[in-house]
Amino acid sequence: MERKEVLVSQAELDRQRDYEEKIRRMFESRQAHPTACVDTFGCQQNVADGQKLMGMLLQCGFTLTDEPKEADLVILNTCAIREHAEQRVFGNLGILTHSKKENPEQVIALCGCMAQEERVSKRIKESYRHVDLVFGPHALWRFPELLWQVYETRKRVFAVDDEHGSIAEGIPVVREKGVKAWVSIMYGCNNFCSYCIVPYVRGRERSRDPQCVLEEVRDLVEHGYKDITLLGQNVNSYGNDLDLNYDFADLLSDIDKIPGEYRIRFMSSHPKDATRKLFDTMARCTHVAKQLHLPVQSGNDRVLHEMNRRYTRAQYLELVRYAKSVMPELVLTSDIIIGFPGETEAEAMDTVSLVEEVGFDALFTFLYSPRPGTKAAEMPDPATKAEKQKWFDKLLEVQNAASARLHAAYVGKTERVLVDGESDDPAFPLTARTDGNRLVRLKGDPSLMGQFTDVKITGSNTWALYGEAL
Ligand code: SAH
Ligand code: SF4
Ligand code: F3S
Repeated sequence: MERKEVLVSQAELDRQRDYEEKIRRMFESRQAHPTACVDTFGCQQNVADGQKLMGMLLQCGFTLTDEPKEADLVILNTCAIREHAEQRVFGNLGILTHSKKENPEQVIALCGCMAQEERVSKRIKESYRHVDLVFGPHALWRFPELLWQVYETRKRVFAVDDEHGSIAEGIPVVREKGVKAWVSIMYGCNNFCSYCIVPYVRGRERSRDPQCVLEEVRDLVEHGYKDITLLGQNVNSYGNDLDLNYDFADLLSDIDKIPGEYRIRFMSSHPKDATRKLFDTMARCTHVAKQLHLPVQSGNDRVLHEMNRRYTRAQYLELVRYAKSVMPELVLTSDIIIGFPGETEAEAMDTVSLVEEVGFDALFTFLYSPRPGTKAAEMPDPATKAEKQKWFDKLLEVQNAASARLHAAYVGKTERVLVDGESDDPAFPLTARTDGNRLVRLKGDPSLMGQFTDVKITGSNTWALYGEAL
């Protein structure tokens, strides 16, 4: 794809801002004060998309609410990664039939990864007739125009064409309050891991121009954001499509030069493309958190091959060894799938043994969920749910013990943390994050909110550390 076909033109972007203006004037002329509710499911990528939707909604004259029943416009921003995620959305759509009966003027929209699945958009078209607008991630930047069409025609609008995907800069954003911000540096995925739906719904890899990313991070730092996470399905392939001879490690180095008091994190990092250059850069850059999310998925070579992950157990272990050798304080987390089609107990136990060997600080563990349209969904899957659950429980037991052990080793130490929230536990009224993103429940003054501070770690359990501000 040529760059000019990937980048949405300024004229097109301006047109969308014009639609925002048109919608705002329409409400003004009716003396209406419309409210909108955006309900986001899924990963940080989707959260970032939800923040753009909210940004565009404010421009259209909406006030945001968390209460779908009362909202004039409800948007379900969906995730397709596992069956459970989809079922929840269909459940929510069912509930919305009642609010629509009470308020027939209510507009209901479904967007995000599920909307891009043909199977889903067909089902909505046929069986969920109260849904007015369906659009996939590819059409997100055209949301103002699509919403205008709904109000103008009062017909159902579907924008779900399969595309390679594009990049639209300059969409208004509503950030979370506080010190955390997400910055997408690239979109899409080319990897086609055999179990995964993402490449089908998010299109091919597209990297944002380095200057756009740098400007956004600089702006965030200037506005007081202190914990900034760079997002991509595989940040390690950043730049491959740019022809600039500039990779993710180069981007990290350049971001690190931005002055200020802040941390940079990133996710996710595919092991097949993780390089020594990346780890050396992380080690050298003072703003880059010494934290790595490196999803391994399985510890068995046959399963890794069937998953199309394109690395072996030994290669993964070597990456971890090198990363820890240049960053001894590295906090390492991972994703794991148990019960991939055809996985045996012995193979699942290879994953458990890898987890024991590596000593991850935390894991995100999933039971395999077949996704229609992916290669793995066609593979024979003889193990029973009960067997898979048993392997899964074993993995959790091993990881929970490891997390508790690693957390206990913090007790007595002093850690630099960023205070980022309040908790409902009066004994530890604040929450904070270490450089490695471990949760700390904190005794301290509320004036510390949003600040970096040194804390003494006084206790720990499997899930969190406890501490006192110094
Ligand atoms: N791009 C990221 C992962 C995004 S999806 C990466 O490659 O690291 C987040 C996690 O969901 C994956 O790492 C995987 O562990 C899990 N996952 C994806 N598809 C799944 C499926 N069909 N069933 C169960 N878990 C799945
Ligand atoms: Fe899915 Fe694999 Fe792409 Fe991650 S790298 S989004 S797991 S296909
Ligand atoms: Fe994210 Fe779910 Fe889509 S994990 S990319 S929102 S399928």
